[in-house]
Amino acid sequence: MRSTYASVSLASIRHNIELMRSRLKPETKYLAIVKANAYGHGMEAVANRAMESGASYLGVAFSEEGVRLRLAGITAPILLLGATEEDHMDDVIRHGLTPTVFTMETLQLLQAHAAKLGMSCRVHIKVDTGMNRIGFTSEAAFTEAILLLKRSPNLVLDGLFTHFAVSELEDTSFTLLQSERFRRYIDIARQNGLNPILHASNSAAALHIPEAQFDMVRGGIAMYGCHPAGHKVEGIDLHPVLSWHTYITHIKTIPAGEGVSYGLKFVTPCDMRVGTVAVGYGDGYKRCLSGIVDVLIRGKRARQIGTICMDQMMIDLTDVPEAEVGDDVVLLGAQGDEEITADELADKAGTISYEILLSISERVPRIYTQD
Ligand SMILES: Cc1ncc(COP(=O)(O)O)c(C=O)c1O
Repeated sequence: MRSTYASVSLASIRHNIELMRSRLKPETKYLAIVKANAYGHGMEAVANRAMESGASYLGVAFSEEGVRLRLAGITAPILLLGATEEDHMDDVIRHGLTPTVFTMETLQLLQAHAAKLGMSCRVHIKVDTGMNRIGFTSEAAFTEAILLLKRSPNLVLDGLFTHFAVSELEDTSFTLLQSERFRRYIDIARQNGLNPILHASNSAAALHIPEAQFDMVRGGIAMYGCHPAGHKVEGIDLHPVLSWHTYITHIKTIPAGEGVSYGLKFVTPCDMRVGTVAVGYGDGYKRCLSGIVDVLIRGKRARQIGTICMDQMMIDLTDVPEAEVGDDVVLLGAQGDEEITADELADKAGTISYEILLSISERVPRIYTQD
């Protein structure tokens, strides 16, 4: 196996789910968001561990992701959070996946496909309470959808949900306003004799806004050990799940005044001991981090220098004179007393932890540990 790899701690998945659930009512269900290959961690392994750790539902973006979980033998309810195209509806119904519905047309098509297959299909209706992405945007349109659903013999309303736009902010007023708007849709569903599972909260709201928990929360980034606000929060002991490793392939001393890597943009200010490591932007280690990021070697921080190449990059070993070829290099994660978090890399790359984790490319093998 390649010595550049990502280690994924399944015990930390469990810990983070238990931590989130400990902040909620015991009866509140947990939907584990495993879309996009479980934020880069590996969908099947995370889904299985999440279900063993108390999750009741899994959430993916679209049907292919759901089918992938079914083919892996996962039988849990799987919510498709995005749109479902007509071409995919037969697959969705046959595999018992749960589509999100936010147009009348989708309801009609799902009913027609389910009737043709002689099967039933559970759906969740999404309402837009302020995110302005997908969802019914008026009570009138929602009421019409509810009435159509009640007349659709092959469809069952399993859930009703919305999504928060700014739940990671300290100011919770907009999230509470979205919750209030959501409650109006809930009333309409109930007045029509329907009692779906209600859900709205993502990780940020699940951790900080207990009033918004309804019947279920949908946890993504916190399950992977990152705080949604982009920094650690006192009293919330999330455990990072993924650590990313490579190794030193070569060490040499470069005389003062020499350029290093493509473009020769970094010039050695003095004689420098420089290590080459086996990772680059082809692995998802972003090129925009060139020269501004640290790695960990022998428990110490060392600065990356010169342009990051596709498969390799260089490290200044001045402060780690004991480093040797073959040494483990931590790109993300802890070593000794030092730690590099996804948030640290995200800050430097001008993005969010989600994108850092998701960027780790397929050619980086994921190794699963139980602890
Ligand atoms: C509809 C929906 N719910 C929940 C989540 C999970 O969000 P988070 O990772 O912030 O918990 C997402 C993530 O993109 C989402 O799109």
